[in-house]
Amino acid sequence: MSTLELNKIVAAVLVAGIIAMMAGFASRLIVHPKSLAQQAYPIQAAESAPSAGGAQPAAADKLEPIAPLLAAADVKKGEAAAKKCGACHTFADGGKNLVGPNLWNVVNKAKAQSAGFAYSDAMKKSEGAWSYESLNHLIWKPNDYVKGTKMAFAGIRNTQERADLVAYLRTLSANPAPLP
Ligand code: HEC
Repeated sequence: MSTLELNKIVAAVLVAGIIAMMAGFASRLIVHPKSLAQQAYPIQAAESAPSAGGAQPAAADKLEPIAPLLAAADVKKGEAAAKKCGACHTFADGGKNLVGPNLWNVVNKAKAQSAGFAYSDAMKKSEGAWSYESLNHLIWKPNDYVKGTKMAFAGIRNTQERADLVAYLRTLSANPAPLP
């Protein structure tokens, strides 16, 4: 065997080794990505950081009343939107408490009164009953309405969608509350 041929064989073995090492390294990168703690409910970017120029917050970040929209709201669309709540709430009369309390007859119901549900202290301290606009505020940004609530929901920024949803909640009653 000539020296040249021997050199080629040695080179081939080295190259094969390097490729094997690199492949191993690359596959470790692919197969073992850093496992991030996953959030059960993705939180949409809620707060827009105030910009250096002190620009006004985006219009969508301002709570708008739903009262003017309720009479013409689309209950069917509201029912579809309520799927966002369904992971944590039931809506039927006598429905179970899940992660959140049952929401039958919630309009005008005293807050934090669903029997057998362990409310947060923050929610227990929130006074009064669920009016249309307090529901609007809660659904817009739960933690803005009840600071420290355990309702881990990012909120719905679209005012029409909140109106449709609250119009649907209103129908969940043997005796729906009058529209504003
Ligand atoms: C990730 C779970 C989760 C989702 C999603 C969720 N909620 Fe809740 N909700 C809760 C929890 C937990 C509470 C109790 C909060 C507390 O005690 O601080 C609550 C409380 C409430 C209350 C107060 C009820 C009472 O008895 O006083 C209302 C009203 C409500 N949620 C409506 C909604 C609506 C409408 C949606 C959908 C737009 C929704 N929630 C989505 C978990 C959730």
